[in-house]
Amino acid sequence: MKLIAQGAEAKLFKTKFDGKDALLKQRVPKGYRCRELDEMLRSTRTNAEANMFRKARALGINTPTIFEVDKKKKEIVMEFINGPRLKDTLKKKNLAVCKQVGQMIALMHAGNLVHGDLTTSNIMLKNKDLFFIDFGLGKTSAKAEDKAVDLLVFKKTFEATHVELMPKGWNQVLEGYLSKGGKKEVLKQMEKVEGRVRYH
Ligand SMILES: Nc1ncnc2c1ncn2[C@@H]1O[C@H](COP(=O)(O)OP(=O)(O)O)[C@@H](O)[C@H]1O
Ligand SMILES: [Mg+2]
Repeated sequence: MKLIAQGAEAKLFKTKFDGKDALLKQRVPKGYRCRELDEMLRSTRTNAEANMFRKARALGINTPTIFEVDKKKKEIVMEFINGPRLKDTLKKKNLAVCKQVGQMIALMHAGNLVHGDLTTSNIMLKNKDLFFIDFGLGKTSAKAEDKAVDLLVFKKTFEATHVELMPKGWNQVLEGYLSKGGKKEVLKQMEKVEGRVRYH
């Protein structure tokens, strides 16, 4: 197995499953939590993330296929997406993909799925298809406020990561969002929350 990334919560390895390239996401122990609580949290989060992947897929969002979930080992084995993260490939010349991103977020929100950690590191591009990953902070919610915060998190990371694509790139995200049934109410709420974050 080859370690390909290590985040705050998990280690990610490239491996094989049934002869296919696979990605193993393993939630690692946190030393500062007591062992029982740590075990419980990692199991719950592993399960919750796998469920969110499945929900997203049921809504028509491309996500890696889940091959196996092991609550004891706190592991998810999933399809390996052979392509770059959007973060590393998004340029002026393929800016139009931003509209597609907005459309996919609208689909998620229409199904009351809130991703929780939208960034261009958590979206991958395979051929011309976008794949959403990293549902560890995902939840189901029908609230405009939750959807607004989901978008605002994305806007803030998008602005910081893709400075040269502003404001065009972000406007395309919004255009895509509205074109697929994303609600104006959510965007208004996002502006309100943004104001609150900025001035208070
Ligand atoms: N299914 C996958 N196929 C290929 N690479 C992946 C896959 N899932 C994650 N990765 C890679 O691992 C990185 C971290 O994975 P992620 O699930 O976002 O974990 P973290 O919670 O640590 O951010 C991603 O940015 C991506 O580069
Ligand atoms: Mg991530």
